[in-house]
Amino acid sequence: MRIDVISAIPKLLESPFNHSILQRAQDKGILQVEVHDLRDFGVGKSRQIDDYQYGGGAGMVMMIEPILRCIDHLKAERKYDEVIFLTPDGITFDQSKANYLSLKKNIILLCGHYKGIDERLRKNVITSEISIGDYVLSGGELGAAVVVDAIGRLLPGVLNDETSALTDSFQDGLLAPPVYTRPADFNGWKVPDVLLSGNDRNIEEWRSQKSLERTKKRRPDLF
Ligand code: ADE
Repeated sequence: MRIDVISAIPKLLESPFNHSILQRAQDKGILQVEVHDLRDFGVGKSRQIDDYQYGGGAGMVMMIEPILRCIDHLKAERKYDEVIFLTPDGITFDQSKANYLSLKKNIILLCGHYKGIDERLRKNVITSEISIGDYVLSGGELGAAVVVDAIGRLLPGVLNDETSALTDSFQDGLLAPPVYTRPADFNGWKVPDVLLSGNDRNIEEWRSQKSLERTKKRRPDLF
């Protein structure tokens, strides 16, 4: 899968894609992430990318031309399944959207800034809009990093243990059960006996039970 990220502050995205699981996914050739500096497509000598808003009011608006130039430049190379705009008024990102996007071949993520992008781009070029939560960030970059991370780890072959993404919280609509590692007794803090029993059926049952309990208590809205 290939993800092209368009950003006015590409430096913000230098690190998140270059460590751990996402780095491994790229090294293995399963995921390709490219960040594009919107300024390279800016207008005029000053490579302008934003302008005052019509009708007045505080805050600049990202212009059509640089964004369209950048998207057209990418589209000349390959076909894209989605052109996604990161914005606080988008549809809230969740696991099912991550699953859905992980099945795509090429997507573009456009990071918003200032007051946002010219509405005509949203109407004519953007295919979907994602918010990562009900709060306002300084720009879409951190949102894009969240989306790339959530998608990247779902791609087949990225996680070492292929089943582990399937047992993540939310994958079956429930939160994940508690987990423990050695030692079995840490100064009197004990691991539940069932997990030491070696009885796979009982362990599976216990985990399902704990998943349900935890979801009921913490996220009753998921039921
Ligand atoms: N840009 C600013 N706030 C955002 C949010 N909550 N999600 C995605 N992009 C954003």
